[in-house]
Amino acid sequence: MTDALHRELLQLAQEAARRAGELLRDGRPADLAVARTKSSPIDVVTEMDIAAEKLITDLISGRRPDDGFLGEEGASVEGTSGVRWVIDPLDGTVNYLYGLPTWAVSVAAERDGETVVGVVAAPMRGETYHAVRGGGAWATGAWAGERALACRPAPPLDQALVSTGFNYVAGVRAHQAGIAGRLIPLLRDIRRGGSAAVDLCDVACGRLDGYYERGLHAWDFAAGDLIAREAGALTGGRPGERPSGELTVAGTPGVFEPLQRLLEDFGAWHD
Ligand code: IPD
Ligand code: CA
Ligand code: CA
Repeated sequence: MTDALHRELLQLAQEAARRAGELLRDGRPADLAVARTKSSPIDVVTEMDIAAEKLITDLISGRRPDDGFLGEEGASVEGTSGVRWVIDPLDGTVNYLYGLPTWAVSVAAERDGETVVGVVAAPMRGETYHAVRGGGAWATGAWAGERALACRPAPPLDQALVSTGFNYVAGVRAHQAGIAGRLIPLLRDIRRGGSAAVDLCDVACGRLDGYYERGLHAWDFAAGDLIAREAGALTGGRPGERPSGELTVAGTPGVFEPLQRLLEDFGAWHD
């Protein structure tokens, strides 16, 4: 029963992410503008973020009317089935606004509070990543068919390629830049891709050794966190905690622990 339910949730998440990704890829207006701002003047929402979330919630609620929703653009439904969908309809909005390719649709399904299905579609890469709890992590793409994901063997920390992100609030960004400045001499290098969901999937794919960020929301990491864990990565927040708004850390085993320890020592979870 559980497996059949998880299969149904996966298929629905894949369909929703694929259709929203096509809408975003094919429907991006040439003169795309900012519709409104949120936490700061640089925290932007476009009409396409809103349209993509509506497509996803309409599709899923049409098929499963008793499920709950948490979506970045306002979807908030309690639900009665024990299943809740956690959705970032467009992760990497600033990249999307500028026409940069690193953005994704992130759709996760939680069952009784635990993420059981995660799908991240990255249309400009032609790749979609997915995982079902206990079933491994997978990528599907036009060029490579379907392949199992596995994170990289750990290098020494000073050869680790680690990605991060910066919050939209100026004071938080300034502190984050200070942490990155202390880390960079200790690592191979730092990347700032612009989509937390893609960063987590890149850890899963072995394209990054680690990733960390403070200030994420559940919709940013729900799907990518499951995909990274199912690919063999370790994920967490502060030591002993699950990923949260305070801190999200992911890494191949051997990079995760020292990275998490440094972030704790540097106070990466607060100003
Ligand atoms: C943002 C991206 C970015 C991260 C920010 C997120 P959005 O999501 O994931 O990489 O650094 O913290 O808010 O606003 O593009 O959905
Ligand atoms: Ca996001
Ligand atoms: Ca978003």
